Amino acid sequence: MGKIILTGDRPTGRLHVGHYVGSLKRRVELQNSGQFDEIYIMIADAQALTDNADNPEKVRQNIIEVALDYLACGLDPAKSTLFIQSQIPELCEMTFYYMDLVTVSRLQRNPTVKSEIQMRNFETSIPVGFFTYPISQAADITAFKATTVPVGEDQAPMIEQTREIVHKFNTVYGGNLVEPDILLPDNKACLRLPGIDGKAKMSKSLGNCIYLSDSEEEIQKKIMSMYTDPNHLRVQDPGQVEGNPVFIYLDAFCTDAHFEEYLPEYQNLDELKAHYMRGGLGDVKVKKFLNNVIQEELRPIRERRREIAKDIPAVYKILEEGSIRAEKKAAETLAEMKRAMKINYFEDKELIAEQAARFKSESEG
Ligand code: TRP
Repeated sequence: MGKIILTGDRPTGRLHVGHYVGSLKRRVELQNSGQFDEIYIMIADAQALTDNADNPEKVRQNIIEVALDYLACGLDPAKSTLFIQSQIPELCEMTFYYMDLVTVSRLQRNPTVKSEIQMRNFETSIPVGFFTYPISQAADITAFKATTVPVGEDQAPMIEQTREIVHKFNTVYGGNLVEPDILLPDNKACLRLPGIDGKAKMSKSLGNCIYLSDSEEEIQKKIMSMYTDPNHLRVQDPGQVEGNPVFIYLDAFCTDAHFEEYLPEYQNLDELKAHYMRGGLGDVKVKKFLNNVIQEELRPIRERRREIAKDIPAVYKILEEGSIRAEKKAAETLAEMKRAMKINYFEDKELIAEQAARFKSESEG
């Protein structure tokens, strides 16, 4: 059996460096590793609508932004199928059948859904579609027989729930669905990149993001204003690196080569951290270094994005062709599922013969 990747993002905004280190960069590496037989990257517009029902325009506008971010980072339509979730109606059909295999209490226990309900003040009135989106996410993954789902840590409960649904489907119907594995970043700092304000997570709604498409000036302004150790008031004070976003970003982005290039007084990040903890190293110096590191990483992405954006119709064409390819695969899986569930009446010659025989003997008897 082949190795297949499926992953995706909700189009509710441009993608930021949290998406980048948490998943996007890894996808491109996996794509170029040649180790996967099929790769599907989905813009999850239908899922985005589960909590943006009254704002379809936002979703519509951000599809192209996310597609540009994908292509700018190096996702290559010749190697990866880029597609739009809502264009694959088979996913809705699968979701409907999976709903029979999941209980309300199991959904209520999903920690990601739980915290999202709180964040959105949905406690008293949760849209059903939002509440059940983990089931639809199981359809996204299984429709493509994905073996590997590269995502951020917050998505772990979704993959867990998908595995349960697959297990149940295969047990109940004797199906042949694939239990996917999650693929998390190796680097701990990339698991959950904090916002520039030091809040636990970088997120558009908190307004604490560095976007892949930010200009050089915007990035610099954001980095120089970053939250650091609030007790590190004077340069000579000892500072804390743990939980300090500037150092977490360095953990996520910098290599020894960056020191050679931009800060040759230090060999590596350990030396820089030791100096900060000892005292005598100012925030501004560390931030300037971080700025150099991040600018180096994002500059080529931004420039490619600008190039690709010169031909927007071509980007829609990529998504359209990807959606056609993706639908073909989902339709194959759905047909297998319906066979396993015995709801494939018209291709089930045995059933038709059996019923014919039954009614014949009844009329004769
Ligand atoms: N829930 C994911 C997010 O919020 C998006 C998503 C939808 C997804 N379906 C998926 C991710 C399937 C991986 C696999 O970013």
